Amino acid sequence: MPAQQKALFLTAKHGDWAVGTTDIPTPGTGQLLVKIHSTALNPLDWKIQAYGLFIENYPAILGSDAAGTVEVVGEGVEGFGVGDRGFFTNSFGTYQQYALSNADVTAKIPAGMSFDEAATLPVGVATGATGLFDQHADDNAQLYPPWEDGGRGKHAGKSIVIFGGSGSVGQYTIQLAKLAGFAPLIVTASLRNADVLKALGATHVIDRTLPTDVLVEQIKHAAGAPVETVFDTVSSRDTQNEAFDILAPTGVLVTVLPDEVDAEKKNAAPGKKVVHVVANVNLPQKRTAGISLYKKLASLLEEGVIKPNHVVIVPGGLSSVPVGLEKLRNGQISAVKLVVRPQESV
Ligand SMILES: NC(=O)c1ccc[n+]([C@@H]2O[C@H](COP(=O)([O-])OP(=O)(O)OC[C@H]3O[C@@H](n4cnc5c(N)ncnc54)[C@H](OP(=O)(O)O)[C@@H]3O)[C@@H](O)[C@H]2O)c1
Repeated sequence: MPAQQKALFLTAKHGDWAVGTTDIPTPGTGQLLVKIHSTALNPLDWKIQAYGLFIENYPAILGSDAAGTVEVVGEGVEGFGVGDRGFFTNSFGTYQQYALSNADVTAKIPAGMSFDEAATLPVGVATGATGLFDQHADDNAQLYPPWEDGGRGKHAGKSIVIFGGSGSVGQYTIQLAKLAGFAPLIVTASLRNADVLKALGATHVIDRTLPTDVLVEQIKHAAGAPVETVFDTVSSRDTQNEAFDILAPTGVLVTVLPDEVDAEKKNAAPGKKVVHVVANVNLPQKRTAGISLYKKLASLLEEGVIKPNHVVIVPGGLSSVPVGLEKLRNGQISAVKLVVRPQESV
């Protein structure tokens, strides 16, 4: 095991990206050191660079989605051994060749699934899961989880609407909602992605480019009854307001970005609730739901009820991460997840 590794640094707030070297960390109690074979790109990372969000200490290593092999097992960890294949999200950065993971929110990769596919899972699946089904936090719809005993089909007979079905978060949310029994399961997307989304469980795909009034009308028509749960995985001001209009008088709208629903709409409908989920399963308030999800993830994947996103590799290792992030920023990615292989870095 080398002492140092390559990592991609964001050099300063609003600064440049640069590949450099840094020490390979040592796992603490409950942690694993994982050699990262694949890391997936998330919109958050271009936003941190462009808007200077969240991070104050630079240079910083970003990235939240990783899959790789366990190199060192920290004290107190059970169930993992050196050489195991796993995937995880972390707060320590995944745009590097080795990273630490918390073992209780790390899952084993089933045989037959690639590192690239596994790297698409952690952030997306956790956002769908803790946005709808976290009964230990109040920033979500607080529904009973489909991965727990008795959870499958529990919400049968209820409709759900997911704005942005084609995104990484959207695709995992569709699959979890299907597992929970929601039907009709209505999503908004570009219609060219309709077949992919129906294969995941959507019953209706509504053209996301329709004018607001037509979009809202078509969704209400497809639902056939008031919609208690809407998950807006896009969360622009426009989609949040459309989503709010669709909600039943006592429904819950889950957003992935801060609440931008018009104040007068909210005043006119005080029974409607808007919650902004923060989906990091390493946060103390998300830990209970995260651990319960991670205990079941490998078996859900083996069973095939959760399928990974389609992967597009950005070749060239860590120095290519900014190229991929720029594509995310420009809206050039549709229904796929961009993945980089850090070990390819030169
Ligand atoms: N709060 C949290 O903890 C958390 C966690 C993860 C992600 N997020 C945020 O969630 C958002 C989605 O993340 P992601 O990884 O899923 O992004 P993504 O995979 O890059 O999403 C891309 C998709 O968005 C769809 N889209 C764009 N505008 C749309 C609209 N007006 N209506 C419907 N669909 C639209 C496109 O669908 P088509 O291709 O079909 O046109 C595209 O496929 C990002 O803003 C991210 O920062 C938040």
